[in-house]
Amino acid sequence: MRRFTHRHAVVGLALAALAACSGADDATQPTAPAAGTADAALSRSDNSALAAEVRTLTAGRGITPLESPPPVRPALVRLGRALAFDKVLSGNKDIACMTCHLPQFATGDARSLSIGQGATGLGPARIHPGGAFIPRNAPPAFNLHAMKVLFWDGRVSRDDGGMVHTPVGDKITPQMSAVFEFGPLSALPLFPVLNRAEMRSDAGNELAAFRDDQEPEIWAAVMKRLGAIPQYRRLFEAAYPGQRFQDMTFAHASNAIAGFLTSQLSFNRSPWDRFLAGNDRALTDVQLAGAKNFMSARCSICHNGPAFSDNLFHNVAVAQIGPGEGDGGGGHDDFGRMRVTGVAAEQYAFRTTPLRNVELTGPWGHGGQFTDLRAFVDHYSESDIKLHNFDVNQLEALLRGTVQPTTDAILATRDPLLNGVVFTPQQVDEVTAFLSALTDPRARNLERITPRRVPSGLPVDGAVFASGPPEDDF
Ligand code: HEC
Ligand code: HEC
Repeated sequence: MRRFTHRHAVVGLALAALAACSGADDATQPTAPAAGTADAALSRSDNSALAAEVRTLTAGRGITPLESPPPVRPALVRLGRALAFDKVLSGNKDIACMTCHLPQFATGDARSLSIGQGATGLGPARIHPGGAFIPRNAPPAFNLHAMKVLFWDGRVSRDDGGMVHTPVGDKITPQMSAVFEFGPLSALPLFPVLNRAEMRSDAGNELAAFRDDQEPEIWAAVMKRLGAIPQYRRLFEAAYPGQRFQDMTFAHASNAIAGFLTSQLSFNRSPWDRFLAGNDRALTDVQLAGAKNFMSARCSICHNGPAFSDNLFHNVAVAQIGPGEGDGGGGHDDFGRMRVTGVAAEQYAFRTTPLRNVELTGPWGHGGQFTDLRAFVDHYSESDIKLHNFDVNQLEALLRGTVQPTTDAILATRDPLLNGVVFTPQQVDEVTAFLSALTDPRARNLERITPRRVPSGLPVDGAVFASGPPEDDF
């Protein structure tokens, strides 16, 4: 049986203390070590030999520094920010993009599965009267300029020639794609507004009245709404100098949201970045030990590149929960990448999740199956046994009964890289500590990006947390 190879000098560590100290490396946040062993978790020895070894392993895996995206023109960011927070984009004007990607929850919603239109409340307190869930977990919007494939199944992507691929093919006309400045991310916001469960609704508004295959008509109807608001006309024309609003399509809106996300949510100043830049003491001893595990074990075969994703798809034996995407006999399954490619070997494969700021973005997994980050790391150790014993009690009550009885089918296409992987509890602690070194302290508080007002005048979810300058409010 092959094991994650690892032995390291930090001994006698109290494992419980580690969990309590994740993120404690953040120099801007004062930490109060509990006692004795917590100091060990925080300590930074003269580790230059180990640091050099980790750097060599890191380079071997192609894990390079994350470049900042080029600056985005402020007028485009301003438009994109307004649109991202404005419920006018949703059929019944009751949900905005950022309702599921809330700044106060690290641009997610702190739920296993999102809850869409027709619901009330925010984040963990959100409730749908019919108990409806979105089939997948809302991923964060961090560093998406560094990703080639978007969504859990990669259905929006760019190929090596720079071509953007989406589920709607040539319904995105050449005139529309000519507007895209941020690759696949510019196309992504075209999709949530089409989705009835997320934003459009089944009834009660002019967007809902269109058939599902009338995507261009739906986009045009959203633009009609926006055009009726004089401030949006001004914002669009400022964002795209020399163009008239009446000549624009929803691609201009989508591209602006991408510009907003790119400019505000790119993070590359974590302890890990300081380590890559040459500071041997940027990581604690425990994080450094975890980094060595991560680099020398199989984690980094999939989680690599500057954002810790190979932009490929793997089945890592995560249980299937929730309403599903309509797959399988009962329709409650989610075949992941196979839904896009039709390739049976890709059943249950999902995009390798990027890991920067991962400490902040729970629950974890494509269905938010894990509510504890350490538990996700631990899952990789004998993942076949872990899948059999998946603990539903970590899920909210409404989801506990939804686990699909598909364990054998999932294990049939599990990535062979996970065969024989066994971690000691100490290694799990160390790797979990390493993951907390990927947190950029600036991502801990994103209140500044929420506006107090949006041009439609509709209420802004999370506005109570807004702390940005008033001139950014619309
Ligand atoms: C009802 C909740 C909800 C709403 C509203 C919503 N999203 Fe999402 N978002 C999700 C979920 C769930 C996913 C994952 C879906 C999947 O992969 O199939 C997602 C995925 C994404 C991604 C992909 C991130 C990645 O890592 O690939 C981006 C970007 C995004 N949404 C932006 C937006 C924008 C922009 C809007 C508004 C136009 C929006 N979302 C509206 C829940 C929501
Ligand atoms: C075979 C490729 C592969 C290997 C090896 C691998 N991962 Fe993953 N990782 C993935 C994929 C794919 C997902 C998304 C799985 C899903 O949700 O179905 C994921 C998800 C995660 C997540 C959850 C992230 C989130 O935001 O939901 C964490 C944390 C993680 N991996 C850490 C690790 C660690 C630590 C290791 C080494 C012990 C590791 N991974 C090994 C492919 C891999």
